[in-house]
Amino acid sequence: MQKMKLFLAATATVGLMSVNAVAGNADLVKEGEKIFNTKKIGNCLACHAVNGKKINNPGNLGPKLQGLSAWPEQALYDKIYNPYTTNPISAMPPFGLNGVLDDHQIKAVVAYLKTVK
Ligand code: HEC
Repeated sequence: MQKMKLFLAATATVGLMSVNAVAGNADLVKEGEKIFNTKKIGNCLACHAVNGKKINNPGNLGPKLQGLSAWPEQALYDKIYNPYTTNPISAMPPFGLNGVLDDHQIKAVVAYLKTVK
């Protein structure tokens, strides 16, 4: 655990927007899945169906998430940090930019999304 904190601190000093090898870290994957599914934090499940889970909202705003394991970690990070960089009219909130998720939480969600086939 201590080792992981050091690792995260080291990557954080490289730059807030930089993400390195978070996939496959079981603790992070678990934490990310929780954030994804929790209404008060990420609430991604409000808009995205994933891994056979149905969305919380009848509104279905976002696409069903699939094939994300093929995305580079940095692309996933950037999408969550600020979706407007790749889609200026995105209906998805900029979780990093608006401070809802911090750097560590976004990395955890990235680790979880890397498990989405
Ligand atoms: C208010 C609804 C909403 C919420 C909440 C939301 N998203 Fe999205 N998301 C969207 C929409 C709409 C798109 C499609 C437009 C785009 O690509 O920006 C999208 C696109 C994406 C994509 C790209 C999918 C693809 O196949 O191109 C990813 C990855 C993603 N969201 C992850 C997340 C994660 C992780 C969270 C939670 C931290 C989240 N989203 C929360 C609406 C939402």
